[in-house]
Amino acid sequence: MKTKNVLDLTDLSHQELMDVIKLADDIRKNPGDFSGVCRGKILATLFYEPSTRTQMSFQTAMLRLGGTIIGFDNPQNSSVAKGESLKDTITVVGGYTDIIAIRNPMEGAAAAAAMYSPVPVVNAGDGGHLHPTQTLTDVVTLHNELGRLDNLTIGLCGDLKNGRTVHSLIKTLSTFKNNRFILISTPELTIPQYIKDIINASECTYKEIPSLADAMPKLDVLYMTRIQRERFASEEEYLRQNGVFVLDKEKLRRAKKNMKILHPLPRVDEIDVEVDYDDRAKYFEQTVYGMYGRMALIMRLLENSDRKFPARVMPTHPFRCKNPKCITSTEHYLPSVFREAGGDMLICKYCDGRRLI
Ligand code: NCD
Repeated sequence: MKTKNVLDLTDLSHQELMDVIKLADDIRKNPGDFSGVCRGKILATLFYEPSTRTQMSFQTAMLRLGGTIIGFDNPQNSSVAKGESLKDTITVVGGYTDIIAIRNPMEGAAAAAAMYSPVPVVNAGDGGHLHPTQTLTDVVTLHNELGRLDNLTIGLCGDLKNGRTVHSLIKTLSTFKNNRFILISTPELTIPQYIKDIINASECTYKEIPSLADAMPKLDVLYMTRIQRERFASEEEYLRQNGVFVLDKEKLRRAKKNMKILHPLPRVDEIDVEVDYDDRAKYFEQTVYGMYGRMALIMRLLENSDRKFPARVMPTHPFRCKNPKCITSTEHYLPSVFREAGGDMLICKYCDGRRLI
């Protein structure tokens, strides 16, 4: 695979993505054939934020390929607690290991890590921004459960503003033809403008609606999400949003017989436990597909890894990104890197934040 780092799943070409999906399927069907392919290789999982599935599925993926793992899931037990920069941590860990999976609360943290790493960096979630390996999990699930990734009507419901899994999933599914996104949220939690721009530039369409019940009959896929409590400025703001959308048996009566219900998990109370016993609920199977997807991705990333430190990145503009959640707001040595989006608009290459010149 040509791609070195996976900051979002759209970093992979279509061909690379389809190859990883197919490899995940081969591994799932014949796990014994792959049990030694990463012998001698080490994966680092650097988790600056809580995680169950993403961290453990990365770890089990590497162990099942015959490799080993190191890392932390509480940065307070590492030199981060002494004030070490992301750059220094990554430079050092990159010298010890062969591949790094990083989760960090700051948006663009994985992109920053990739600037200094001699080994492949995989974004395991950067704040409310992106989460490519959850998207890999989602597309492996859809490919297996529905047999296609195009011509789908996909309802995405809940915290579309802060839900990084939603952003990455829409970006990837927008690269397939004729997908229709039904975006179900409160007006406070709508999808970021840059994601709408991506859909508008694709062969897909979107519609924003406030009612889950109304959306239900049309959907091939319902992607439920948790309200992202940790991303809210105050508890009151969170409480105003929580509990607005709940999927229960009653609402499911209006859904297609073969609709698939996905959720990146953890679930809080947005899916009633009764729904778990409905054949359309696929969120627990989804977690297993995710492990095979990560096995395939690790295998492909390690195949062409050359252990070279990347060339120094120079600033493209004299300004800083204005997004307070951007990694550049805490790691001050990072070069300011923007892409120009027409007119006076700049887009931050770390966090996709917009600013006017
Ligand atoms: C998601 C995440 O961390 O963004 N969980 C996951 O990785 N499976 C979703 C969430 O936390 O709501």
